[in-house]
Amino acid sequence: MVVGELNVDIILNGIQGFPELEKEKIAESMTISLGSSSAIMAANSSVLGTATSFCGITGDDSFGKFLIDELRSKGVDTQYISKWKDHKTGATIVMNYGIERANISYCGTMEFLTMEAIPWKELGSFDHLHISSIFLQKGLRKDIGTILKRAKDKGLTTSLDIQWDPEEKWDFNYRECLPLVDVFLPNKKELLALTQSPDIETGLDQLKAHGNWIAIKLGEEGSMGYADGKTIRCPAYKNPEYVDSIGAGDSFNAAFIKKFLSGAEPRECLEYGNLMGALNTSSVGGTGAFESLEGVRQKVKSLFNFKT
Ligand SMILES: Nc1ncnc2c1ncn2[C@@H]1O[C@H](COP(=O)(O)OP(=O)(O)O)[C@@H](O)[C@H]1O
Ligand SMILES: [Mg+2]
Repeated sequence: MVVGELNVDIILNGIQGFPELEKEKIAESMTISLGSSSAIMAANSSVLGTATSFCGITGDDSFGKFLIDELRSKGVDTQYISKWKDHKTGATIVMNYGIERANISYCGTMEFLTMEAIPWKELGSFDHLHISSIFLQKGLRKDIGTILKRAKDKGLTTSLDIQWDPEEKWDFNYRECLPLVDVFLPNKKELLALTQSPDIETGLDQLKAHGNWIAIKLGEEGSMGYADGKTIRCPAYKNPEYVDSIGAGDSFNAAFIKKFLSGAEPRECLEYGNLMGALNTSSVGGTGAFESLEGVRQKVKSLFNFKT
């Protein structure tokens, strides 16, 4: 079960210059796709073979319909997504400049999801709960500890990817929450900001005492993990067909959790996360490289000579 935010990504590529007030710039191409960390994770998780449900809200509008259709087309169960008449579905305008990007988001309905929307009665029939982007979801963030605690009490394992805090206040009590998180999945920048550390090692030291498994995403440098008292480093796959890294962390999460749920060792989870993170970067947006499991198998074989 993924509980989280839903929005549309409007991705602009090949932009001729940076935005300037009172001027107009041209982009060479545009893709409209399923956005938001939680939804990308859910879609790719389903494509990789994990039965996945999504709980969230959209507006009662065409973007909302588009998102639900996209999730369904990837096999995600959308019965726990509700449509709200009072607010619009959010969107992110992604301006891609090579390996870096500038985003502007309108959060829309994502701010209004609260813990009451979670199907608590049915939750015990799920194996795992994944939550992402807590700083974008004010209605959910205030109860994050309670949600994790209730899920654990119902016997689920849990994972959390806090994502970037646009306000950069990092108001998340990791000492209290991480003991309730089986797999914590920040990227390097988020780890350093959250723990106010100068480097990964110091940041990781802050979390070790509180967390269980910790997987830190390091972009082109792969990932680093901490589990059962050991630190592991895993180099990235070199992608010969790099397009953009939108959603790479979410694809990493989907892959890592798939292996985690199958009982794999931490190293195997990290390696599979790196593989799917790298595959993600071979297509536009977060879900372009994840159309079907067979397609994923063929693509990782041709790009990375990886046989599944
Ligand atoms: N340019 C890249 N080449 C190869 N692998 C990549 C690249 N960018 C990301 N990845 C893989 O995807 C994972 C997640 O990407 P990252 O950018 O670190 O996360 P996030 O999207 O959360 O910022 C990385 O740990 C790495 O395994
Ligand atoms: Mg991320």
